[in-house]
Amino acid sequence: MRNFVFLAALGTFALGVAAQAHEDHQHSTNPLVDARQGGMTMLVANMGALSRAESAPEADAITRAAFPASGIAAFARSLPALFAAETKDVPGTRSLPAVWEDSEGFGSQIAEFQAATAGLEAAARTNDKAAFSESLARTKAACQSCHTAFRAEG
Ligand code: HEC
Repeated sequence: MRNFVFLAALGTFALGVAAQAHEDHQHSTNPLVDARQGGMTMLVANMGALSRAESAPEADAITRAAFPASGIAAFARSLPALFAAETKDVPGTRSLPAVWEDSEGFGSQIAEFQAATAGLEAAARTNDKAAFSESLARTKAACQSCHTAFRAEG
């Protein structure tokens, strides 16, 4: 019984932390903006899993990374739809107007991200460790490069 009370208290605490983290995030009123912000947020966790796979000692660590890598590659393919023109002025977006005003520049950032993440998935599937490391570095550079040009600070 004491254990139960303790666990119940722990659960309430965990929910409190989750709710707080949730409130830090400004909510949009548009499902496409939610999809891109939520997807981008989940990229962070998936990228963490891939970084851990890169340095893991297990022989199958890279092959097993094909699952999170395939999710990232699929998300990359969906980006043109998630940045649809009608989402330009939705409150809560941190996308700069340049996303739509310089659609060629933004398109080439997406293309680079798609190429890098397709390479990441392929390298994981073929258990090619060197190609995996190279694609992971290329993917991280693609995140940075796009944010610098197309995402508002803070
Ligand atoms: C093609 C451009 C592009 C690429 C590539 C890209 N991002 Fe983003 N990212 C954006 C833009 C634009 C926003 C702002 C989205 C909005 O608020 O409308 C954003 C937002 C985010 C956010 C904040 C989400 C939120 O909850 O507000 C995180 C975290 C993030 N990106 C992580 C990443 C990571 C990690 C990668 C690489 C694995 C990545 N992004 C790749 C353009 C990009």
